[in-house]
Amino acid sequence: MDEISLNILDIVQNSIKAKASSISISIDIDRRKDLLSIIIKDNGEGMSKDQLEKVEDPFYTTRTTRKVGLGIPFFKYAAISTGGNFAISSNLGEGTVVRAEFIFSHIDRMPLGNIVETMHLLITMHQNIHFLYTYKLDNDIFSLDTKDLKEILGDIPFNVPEVSNFIKEFLLESHNEINRGSYI
Ligand SMILES: Nc1ncnc2c1ncn2[C@@H]1O[C@H](COP(=O)(O)OP(=O)(O)O)[C@@H](O)[C@H]1O
Ligand SMILES: [Mg+2]
Repeated sequence: MDEISLNILDIVQNSIKAKASSISISIDIDRRKDLLSIIIKDNGEGMSKDQLEKVEDPFYTTRTTRKVGLGIPFFKYAAISTGGNFAISSNLGEGTVVRAEFIFSHIDRMPLGNIVETMHLLITMHQNIHFLYTYKLDNDIFSLDTKDLKEILGDIPFNVPEVSNFIKEFLLESHNEINRGSYI
């Protein structure tokens, strides 16, 4: 995985597996501070202290189909290798927060990649989950709360082609407007 957006997808899939009904995803890029910060917060099952200690270890996973879980260790390594930080906090029955901080200009920082595709996929494939997505670049901010989408669309499913395309265009235009041609 050489794109941060694919790492985000993997981390959010953990939240979905943990039966979260609400997930917030925040990307905050501050070029003056030279930081790219990601926070993913869910209200899923959470982890015990014991589980949490094992999770950053690449040889731990509760899955049986694959022996090693690499989602979290990989994301952690990607952040740390830029000189950044990584932290997870979790409480059983309450939820989990994953924070990763990358040094923006570091040569080993992966590009953000196709975050529009990632968010579009998550939102349209999991309409029963409430997503709050925030993208901040320096002083500009964009937020998408799927509660607002539901209010506008009522019972119309997000994966109906017209709606799905509308969500994608909205995400794309909002990012383009904020990025103003910068490659993040
Ligand atoms: N948000 C979360 N809520 C509850 N448990 C989690 C969460 N994220 C990770 N875990 C636990 O940590 C384990 C390791 O996650 P990960 O490194 O992504 O590997 P994998 O998803 O392949 O198991 C998961 O199997 C799960 O038990
Ligand atoms: Mg995973």
